[in-house]
Amino acid sequence: MGKNVKRKAPKIKTPDQYKQTVNGETITGGHGGFARIDVFHGKTFQAMPRKIFITSALPYANGDIHLGHLVGYIQADIWVRFQRMRGNSVHYVCADDTHGTPVMLRAEKEGLTPEALIARVHGEHLRDFTGFGIAFDHYHTTHSEETRRYAEDIYAKLTANGLIEARAIAQFYDPVKAMFLPDRFIKGECPKCGAADQYGDNCESCGAAYAPTELKHPRSAISGAIPVLRESEHYFFRLSDKRAAAFLREWTRSESRPGVRRLPLEAANKMREWLGEEGEYKLSDWDISRDAPYFGFEIPGAPGKYFYVWLDAPIGYFASFRHLADKRGDIPVEDYTDAGKAAAAGTEMVHFIGKDILYFHALFWPAMLEFAGYRTPSQLCVNGFLTVDGAKMSKSRGTFITARSWLDQELDPEALRYYFAGKSNGSMEDIDLNLDDMIARVNADLVGKFVNIASRCAGFIGKRFDGRLGGIDAPATEAFAAAWAAGDIAAAFEARDYSRALREIMRLADLANQYINDRKPWELARQPDKAAELHLVCSTALTLFRDLARYLKPVLPALAAQVETFLAIAPFDWQGPWQALPAGHRIEPYRHLAARIERARIDALLEANRGSLAPVVPSPAPTIAIDDFARVDLRVARIVEASHVEGAGKLLRLVLDIGEEKPRQVFAGIKSAYAPETLAGRLTVMVANLAPRKMKFGLSEGMVLAASDPDGKTGGIHLLSPDIGAMPGMKIK
Ligand code: MSP
Ligand code: ZN
Repeated sequence: MGKNVKRKAPKIKTPDQYKQTVNGETITGGHGGFARIDVFHGKTFQAMPRKIFITSALPYANGDIHLGHLVGYIQADIWVRFQRMRGNSVHYVCADDTHGTPVMLRAEKEGLTPEALIARVHGEHLRDFTGFGIAFDHYHTTHSEETRRYAEDIYAKLTANGLIEARAIAQFYDPVKAMFLPDRFIKGECPKCGAADQYGDNCESCGAAYAPTELKHPRSAISGAIPVLRESEHYFFRLSDKRAAAFLREWTRSESRPGVRRLPLEAANKMREWLGEEGEYKLSDWDISRDAPYFGFEIPGAPGKYFYVWLDAPIGYFASFRHLADKRGDIPVEDYTDAGKAAAAGTEMVHFIGKDILYFHALFWPAMLEFAGYRTPSQLCVNGFLTVDGAKMSKSRGTFITARSWLDQELDPEALRYYFAGKSNGSMEDIDLNLDDMIARVNADLVGKFVNIASRCAGFIGKRFDGRLGGIDAPATEAFAAAWAAGDIAAAFEARDYSRALREIMRLADLANQYINDRKPWELARQPDKAAELHLVCSTALTLFRDLARYLKPVLPALAAQVETFLAIAPFDWQGPWQALPAGHRIEPYRHLAARIERARIDALLEANRGSLAPVVPSPAPTIAIDDFARVDLRVARIVEASHVEGAGKLLRLVLDIGEEKPRQVFAGIKSAYAPETLAGRLTVMVANLAPRKMKFGLSEGMVLAASDPDGKTGGIHLLSPDIGAMPGMKIK
């Protein structure tokens, strides 16, 4: 790749384009000085390179990455890449959010330990993000020693500050599963509208919010048992303390840098609502502990009590950063995390999050940090929610699209980056992915406008001029150089108004195409005496193409890298004065840069994502008489013991108590769905009069009953359980 581009002076000087007004003063040209000018909301000022610690929300380790997730990660990645091109120092980290009940239960269902589950998901998530060009400096896990240390430290400091309090609360408890139930694992009838099958926190039918204890006919969503109220001691972070409200009020009001809000306006308004008026104290204390069994970190000095997942989740930002710094050895982490050092070093901490998790990041997290002596967030960048073709993503319509399926269909990940960028304006508004609109936009802008410039001119340079560029048509580059100098596109990227940036870039692309249309290189090529003009026109067009690629680079890094290779230039940055490509510079032969998206591909994508939750409709078996049924002796059985069977891929060995003197041994094909240690003690249903069968592993004396999808499409095997109160040996009829 040619490194000579910057050093050689352009043959034809463009007019006055290096002039820039900074705080009323005119500064011209000069390498370096230009780069240090930032434009914010119309104000320009000189700045030192910024030192920014940037995070994206930590995805839960119990699900796949889908296109909804990608909205926020792509927005963050674009900003990171832009800041780096500006010469700022950026550390960008993320991690999996691994703790909590859902991960624990999912691992149990898959017959895995939580550690094995989160290790697998970590690999899947990182692979998906990498596939979409999201370039974290490090992708960690909250189940790490770094997280534990920070969590314990913050907890100790909050305790020392008098902000932790223990008190007993009554909560629903599942007597069968022997655990306290999170709201989402309690179902019942809505106390307001009576809708059946609603969660313990709010009703999806009428929107009412309530406590799980208000549900009518509550049930545990795990075992189906009727939950009972039980008391237990919990730890609270005392947000009702006057210091917390006073700090949060001040934090919300202050700016992160001159002219830049800490929170989007809509979020700041929400904060005022949550905090109330001056002198009002509306915040309630925050329950930060959970009882065993729980997958997480035990609270020091409180056996059986664990940090609630949302306490250690944001701490994972620090943990990931710490891990990166330890690996690299040259990052002064405390300059970014310690309150005093961060203020002295002028570092920033910027979090990219979705609007559903604003409450945690704008209230709990800054308050935790402030009262534990850590630095607080400089800025929260909040994205809205994704809808697909105007509706909530849906599995049955195939619009719950996983990141993986997009890559598997060999759709261009940068097409999605481009489309999301075009829909992002830095606000919290929801974003709609209209699939036909996406196809049209990507084909028209990237293929029709951008790539078209190179494909119409590059061939002539290769064939007629030995791959070497000629002089530049100065007036034709004026608009481009002026846009560079004015910094409007940069300001739009800075403000995360990518939609405005892309509009501006496409306006320039139109100008470049217009230039080619006016000068018609294909006609010049037919006239032997017009070789010099052909050389000038094609060289100029490729210079404009270079500029467009540079502007697009934060959004389309892979495409920009191809352009860098094709033009044989150093990786693009966004600093220094505008310069033409020098005459005589040799480029590589042109290779096709981007292909149109076909609708058929999108249809295949929807098909691949459709129906994983389609209703299961088994074809009914032929009817039988009641006597036929009565011949089956079904009994309630207690699983006394469950264990792996050596050499058996699918089987578990169960020891079942059905009230007989000697318990029965049964080999059951449920290994894929259950870890043996989770089965001991639970009740199920068995066929007690099935003829015993001699197997390789021993005698099987009956069978247990389980539900599964006949087509095997939805996966999973679900053991039956009797309702609470049933006893081993009871007859089922
Ligand atoms: N684990 C928490 C975040 C902890 S941060 C310390 C979480 N995880 S999540 O997997 O549910 O979501 C990860 C990110 O994706 C969040 O910023 C969330 O807002 C965002 N989104 C999840 N679904 C989304 C859409 N449908 N649309 C846009 N963003 C979405 O929340
Ligand atoms: Zn309701």
